[in-house]
Amino acid sequence: MATTLRQASQALLTRIEDRFTQVFGPGCNPFFHLGAMTIYFFWIVLISGLYLFAFFETSVYGAFQSVERLTHEQWWLGGVMRSLHRYASDAAVITMMLHMIREFVRDRYRGVRWYSWITGVPLLWMVFLLGITGYWLVWDVLAQYIALVSAEYMDWLPIFTDPIARNFISQEALSDRFFTLMGFLHLIGIPLFLVFGIWFHVMRIAMPNINPPRTLMAGSLIALLVLSLIKPAVSHEVADLSAVPGELSLDWFYLFIYPVIDTIGVGSAWILLTALTFLLMAFPWLPRKKAEPVAEIDLEHCSGCTWCVNDCPYGALTMRPRSDGRAHKQEVVIEPDLCVSCGICAGSCPSATPFRKSEDLSTGIQLPQFSFRRLRDEMDTALSELRGDARIIVYGCDHAATVKQLRGGDVAALSLECTGMLPPSLIDYALRDRKADGVLVTGCCEGDCLHRLGNTWMEQRVNGERPPQLRGRVDRDRVRVRWASSTDLATLRREIDGFRQDLGEMDAKGAPEAPLVAVESGRGA
Ligand code: HEM
Ligand code: SF4
Ligand code: SF4
Repeated sequence: MATTLRQASQALLTRIEDRFTQVFGPGCNPFFHLGAMTIYFFWIVLISGLYLFAFFETSVYGAFQSVERLTHEQWWLGGVMRSLHRYASDAAVITMMLHMIREFVRDRYRGVRWYSWITGVPLLWMVFLLGITGYWLVWDVLAQYIALVSAEYMDWLPIFTDPIARNFISQEALSDRFFTLMGFLHLIGIPLFLVFGIWFHVMRIAMPNINPPRTLMAGSLIALLVLSLIKPAVSHEVADLSAVPGELSLDWFYLFIYPVIDTIGVGSAWILLTALTFLLMAFPWLPRKKAEPVAEIDLEHCSGCTWCVNDCPYGALTMRPRSDGRAHKQEVVIEPDLCVSCGICAGSCPSATPFRKSEDLSTGIQLPQFSFRRLRDEMDTALSELRGDARIIVYGCDHAATVKQLRGGDVAALSLECTGMLPPSLIDYALRDRKADGVLVTGCCEGDCLHRLGNTWMEQRVNGERPPQLRGRVDRDRVRVRWASSTDLATLRREIDGFRQDLGEMDAKGAPEAPLVAVESGRGA
C-alpha cells in the first residue's frame, strides 16, 4: 500500500516536473534547485531586511510610524524593499515546503540520508519563527493579534514566572525594551541560528547545490519586484491594546497556526505541534529503509588516484597514507555510515576496465551487489543478443526512464543503480570490434539525479572533461547521451529512432569503422 502510494506520488511529481522542464528547460527547472532557491530567497530577505532596519525605530510608538514612513513616503525604495522582504520570505516558505515534500516523495530521507531530514526539521520551525517575529515588529493590529495569541501560547508552559501576556495588558505596560528584544531576535538571533542550521543541514553532502542558476535567480527577482510594485506590502491599522483586533488579513504562509490555536485552544495546539515535530523526526524510520551493502574497496587494485573521492556525492570517501606498503602514496577509505550505495565511485575507478587480463576483474572500488565483473558479463550477454544493421546498447538507471522496455532486436539495455556507475571503458568495449554500432547513455533528467551528481559526472566523462574520460579516439558519433525522466520513455524511443537512422546513414556512406581504441588503462590496473 505504502509502496503503491509512493510510486503514484513519484509519478505525479515527475509529470509536474516534466511540464516545468518543458517551460524552463532542464537547467532552470526550479524543482531541481529548491534547497538552493530557499537560500537565495533568504539572501533577498537579508539584504532588504538590513535596509529596512536602518530606518526602523525600536520603540512602542516609533515602530509602526517608521514602517509607515518607509512604505508611503519612500515607496520607490523603502516600500519596494519592504514588499521584497515580505514576498521573498513567502517564496522561501514555498520552496522550503516543496523541497521537503520532494525529498520525501523521491525517498531521499531514509537510510543513510536520515541526517539531512532530521536536521531539516528544526529549520522549518526557525523559518516560521523568523517570519512571525517579523510581523510582530510592525506593531499594527495584526502584530497585536499575534502578540496576544503567542503570549497566551507561551504562558501555557509553566516556565515563566511573570506571564508574557502581562506586557500586553495596555500600551503603557509595553516597553521599548520589548521591541529591542524582538529586533535582536528577528535580525540577529534567529538568522544566526538559521545560517548555522543550514550549514549543519548540508554538512554531509559533497558540493551541495546552494546557488541556483543565474537565470533562475534573475527571473525570480524580477517576478518578486513586479509583484512588489503591483501589490505593495502594507500594514493594518496601528495596534491599540485597549481594543480587540477586528478583521485581519493573514499571511497564511507564516501565520496559519494562529487561527488553529484560536480554534483548538493553546493546550491542544502545543500537543499538535509537538506531535507533528516528533512524527516528522521519526519519518526516516517509518518504515526503516532496507540497508544496501555499501561500496567495497580492494586496495590491491587501488592506485590512490583520488578520482572516486572527488566523485562521491555524499563525502563517504577520503584518502589516507598507504597502509599496505605498496609504492602508491595514498589509499582510499570509506565511511560506511555515509555511503548511499549509489555506485558512482565504481564508475570513477580507472581499474574498472574490461580489457584487463585478470579473470575476476576486481576493481579498486565497487558495489558488491553489482560488481564490475557482473556488469561486464551482463553486457556481454546483452551484446551477443543484438541483431540488425544498427545495433544499439542503452545504459540507463533504475530511477529514470525504464530502459528495459526498449529491449528487442537491435536494441539491448542495461539498467544500473545510477548511470554514474558506468565506467567509460564499457562504452569503449561495446564499440570496439563493433559488438554494437551505437551506445546510448541515459538516466535521470538533466540537472537532476537521484544520487545528486551521477548524470553530471557521466556527461563530463563522455565529453572528456572529467576522469576517467572516454578515450578521444572512440568514434563520438556512435555515442549519444540523452537524459529522460521516468515518465519520458517516448523521448528515448524517438532518440533511438533518430540514432538508428544516423547510424544507418553513417554506414551507408562508408564511414570508417570505429577505430580500435586504447582504453584508459588506469593507474591501479
Ligand atoms: C531553510 C530551509 C532549508 C534549506 C535552505 C535547505 C537546503 C538544502 C540544500 C542546499 C540541500 C542540498 C541539495 C543538493 O545539493 O543536492 C538540501 C538537502 C536535503 N534537504 Fe534541505 N533545506 C531546508 C529545509 C529542509 C527540510 C525542512 C527538510 C525536511 C524535513 C529537508 C530535507 C533535506 C534532505 C532529505 C536533503 C538531502 C537530499 C539528498 O540526500 O540528496 N530540508 N537541503
Ligand atoms: S557508493 Fe556512492 S555514496 Fe557510496 S562511496 Fe560510492 S559514490 Fe560514495
Ligand atoms: S584507484 Fe579506484 S579506488 Fe583507488 S582512489 Fe582511484 S578511483 Fe578510488
